[in-house]
Amino acid sequence: MNIKKQPISNSLGQLIFNRNNSNILEIDKEEIISLFKYYGVLLFRGFETNTDIFKQFTSLFSTDFINYAGGAFNRRVINGDETLLSVNDFKSEIKLHGEMYYQQNIPLMLWFFCANPALEDGETTVCDGREFFDKLSSSTKDLFSQKKLKFAVRISKDDWHKKYKTDDLEVLGEMCKNNNTHLKVHEDQSIQLEYIAPAIIPSRCGNYQVFINSLLPTMQLSPDVLTFDDDSKIPDDVVSELNEIAEIITTEISWQKGDILMVDNTRIMHGRRAFADDLRDIYIRLCSPAFPF
Ligand SMILES: [Fe+2]
Repeated sequence: MNIKKQPISNSLGQLIFNRNNSNILEIDKEEIISLFKYYGVLLFRGFETNTDIFKQFTSLFSTDFINYAGGAFNRRVINGDETLLSVNDFKSEIKLHGEMYYQQNIPLMLWFFCANPALEDGETTVCDGREFFDKLSSSTKDLFSQKKLKFAVRISKDDWHKKYKTDDLEVLGEMCKNNNTHLKVHEDQSIQLEYIAPAIIPSRCGNYQVFINSLLPTMQLSPDVLTFDDDSKIPDDVVSELNEIAEIITTEISWQKGDILMVDNTRIMHGRRAFADDLRDIYIRLCSPAFPF
């Protein structure tokens, strides 16, 4: 199949159009893989898609689909498949972040599917974590090279049963161990979790630095959870600087029904704009590339 493409925005990604009524499942896999490796984010538009085609298409490129155990939000399982989830827990803005960067085991790759767009607003936002790093002031770069982020959260017994999809403390202990997360169990079986992560990581190729983490939504939604690893506060002026950079480099994905978005979660951050109606239905799959990466 001949691929027709153009940049998603001035600075980011590629939009792959359907041409000649092509079947998305017959797309040139090797070309898509090389575009993905280069750009980190691809949007497929105009193809005939539905939930089943989305699952088949993502399975052409991905493996190790995960079920979001330990995830921060409530997600609705679609068609009984725990690796296909709706992202609409609530309607407010979610600032740019790497998916599940509040734990060690992150999905390396994300897929989004627009089952239905919002009537207006509700765009998914994306940005390049390398560009984000390049725009940081040198004092902020220094600060993040000296101090890591510490996520510390207390979770009630009922809540951790739900969040980790188990009521077995040993299973939970194993999950925390695998995630480098410190677990403390209180007398009432509520738990305290602590996880330390860098805000900036080297790229997979090792040639540049990437600002990718869960700092911005955590500071926006539950600021008490996040400090530096020496327990000092993340300064307000640093958070303001990060929010300003985020706005400058954000690309908005204005969804059309049936769109599919492919995201490299090791270097592209994502979020979403607020929306008001009940129509927006975007699905997500979390996984790893099924090709050398
Ligand atoms: Fe996310």
